[in-house]
Amino acid sequence: MNNIIYLDAAATALKPESVITAEMNFLRDEYANSGRGICPRAAAVDASIAKARQKVANFIGAESTEQIIFTSGATDGLNRVVHLVSALPKFQSKKPIVAVSDLDHHSARLPWMESGAGIVIWQLGETFNYDMSKVPVADVVVITAMSNVLGLPINVTDLIKAVRKKNPDALVIVDAAQYVVHNQIIAKDWDADFICFSGHKIGADTGVGVMYMKSPDDFFPDKFGGGMVNKITGAMSCTLNVAPDKFEAGTLPITQIIGLHKAIDYLSEHRPNLDLIKYLYDRLSKISRIKIITSRNAAMLTFYIEGMHVLDFGAIVGARGVCLRVGNMCAGWLHNLLGLSGTVRISVGTWNTMDDVRKAADIIEEAVK
Ligand code: ALA
Repeated sequence: MNNIIYLDAAATALKPESVITAEMNFLRDEYANSGRGICPRAAAVDASIAKARQKVANFIGAESTEQIIFTSGATDGLNRVVHLVSALPKFQSKKPIVAVSDLDHHSARLPWMESGAGIVIWQLGETFNYDMSKVPVADVVVITAMSNVLGLPINVTDLIKAVRKKNPDALVIVDAAQYVVHNQIIAKDWDADFICFSGHKIGADTGVGVMYMKSPDDFFPDKFGGGMVNKITGAMSCTLNVAPDKFEAGTLPITQIIGLHKAIDYLSEHRPNLDLIKYLYDRLSKISRIKIITSRNAAMLTFYIEGMHVLDFGAIVGARGVCLRVGNMCAGWLHNLLGLSGTVRISVGTWNTMDDVRKAADIIEEAVK
């Protein structure tokens, strides 16, 4: 790893060898488009995409592969949901009221702000969890299953039950981009309408993500092009394929989908070792200048340093080979709530060892001395 201690898994994960090999083999020896050809090579690609889709469906406990739409990432999925929901007939005369929270990543809230929807904020409790006594009244509720700053999984099933009790017709969207790295998504039990996550945080390549749709038949596509049309019936008319094709216009990120299949296989056997985070918590909490804002059992360690700008800190430890994330993590609302302009985040992946975090802790101690 070129003497780098890579502790920024939450930004993007390093890739297992199986993902790299599968993508290279495909690009070199097996390449063709999917959904368009009938030669044996094209048919083999179709079979690989179908297997990957089944793998994703099993991985997140979906009922059918029709519910699994490949996107370019969590941001793409969360933007697409806004277009899909906004196009529903019931929101043509009156824009939806959308509940968001300060746990949200920018990509979960900004697309709704841009859409002109009414925004209500689901207030957080003292420990920055969703306050169950303040479930908002809304047409759409956006839930962050794990904050990319705080690193604690929420109980999505219970939260959605509470949402549905208050708002029986609400559509619920779950941003699971961080949650999926450490915890099992069980789509059937969650009862969310949409669940979005990226491939690159779970060891797949960039450029691929998943948008789970509970009821794809209830929605009209947001993108148009090849692969989604069943029949052209006139100069200005056509019939559409059923899901998932209906929502996958254009050439898919086929190489990345093949990598995603391998990444899920790998993740199913190896999850990041969170004892490494506990070790760092115990070491760094002894340094008085370091103020940790995450709990010991979180999936990441987030802190700030008294009297030192996080960018200076990031540059100092970065020069010594420690790669971590500094800034507001694209979670500006949570940082505003915390009264901080930025924090430092350490996150571990399956490649990290105790030796990595021991060395990183030594370097961090010296940097803040
Ligand atoms: N959203 C990613 C992060 O948390 C990039 O760093």
